[in-house]
Amino acid sequence: MLKGKRLAVLGAGKLGETLIRGLLDARAVDASRVTVTAARRERAEGLARELGLTASPSNREAAEAADLVLLSVKPQQVSGVLSEIAEGLRPSQLIISVAASVSTAFIEKRLGRPIPVIRAMPNTPALVKKGMTGIARGAHAEKQHLELARTIFDAVGRTVVVDEKHLDAITGLSASGPAFIYIVIESLAEGGVKVGLPRDLATELAAQTVLGSGAMVLETGEHPARLKDLVTTPAGCTIDGILELEDGGLRVTLIKAVVRATQRAKELLET
Ligand SMILES: NC(=O)c1ccc[n+]([C@@H]2O[C@H](COP(=O)([O-])OP(=O)(O)OC[C@H]3O[C@@H](n4cnc5c(N)ncnc54)[C@H](OP(=O)(O)O)[C@@H]3O)[C@@H](O)[C@H]2O)c1
Repeated sequence: MLKGKRLAVLGAGKLGETLIRGLLDARAVDASRVTVTAARRERAEGLARELGLTASPSNREAAEAADLVLLSVKPQQVSGVLSEIAEGLRPSQLIISVAASVSTAFIEKRLGRPIPVIRAMPNTPALVKKGMTGIARGAHAEKQHLELARTIFDAVGRTVVVDEKHLDAITGLSASGPAFIYIVIESLAEGGVKVGLPRDLATELAAQTVLGSGAMVLETGEHPARLKDLVTTPAGCTIDGILELEDGGLRVTLIKAVVRATQRAKELLET
């Protein structure tokens, strides 16, 4: 579905680059059909040189020449970029915005014409095709636009189609989540180091344990509490570890982390 489409990535920063690399690696897009822009010309040109893309100094020219426009600037920069590109857009194009906090209604209002818009919230494990993306359609996007967006994000991981009202929560859970989990992995590895494991080995054990546990939840469809019970032998060692986790408030801390990140996701456009 994506083959042959021309993609413009407006604001090819950390996430834009991650998605481009993931898509190229999955052979979902041709490098020769991808154009990137950035605030600093050398950023766009450097990335284009490295990955075989085209760099453009103009958001408007890049958007006009594309079938798909991926908007990956910071939330506060979306309005400015939209006013640059709005006039040149056509209803046959599709805008996909990954900007946190920015609603499809906000984008549609600034475009001023019925251009299809999809809002997406991916995460950085997309780089290794283990991404998690929530997508929602705007007022002028049809089923085929949703499918096209889905093709992009499926190429770099798992995609769920949701009502737009859930996207701030998805930002707080799965877009911020990798940072939370890296801290969990780092901490498990520190535990391993404390009990005598070499650091590299401890990190590998911790990371693969997180990966495997996530796969168990997704692939068996079992409730995580049941899977936890299966590891927890009566009077064994795991229950002693769980006692420490409960005493340290791990559950409530993670719940609060997602709640706080979600609240912040609602404010990003203004501040
Ligand atoms: N990072 C994540 O994990 C993540 C996850 C989900 C969604 N998002 C969303 O993705 C968006 C980008 O986040 P990020 O972490 O990738 O930030 P970032 O690295 O700062 O990327 C933003 C990019 O926009 C460019 N830019 C700024 N003004 C521009 C303009 N007027 N025209 C064209 N390009 C412009 C910047 O150029 P320079 O490099 O030259 O400064 C930079 O490359 C945000 O809206 C964020 O909410 C991020």
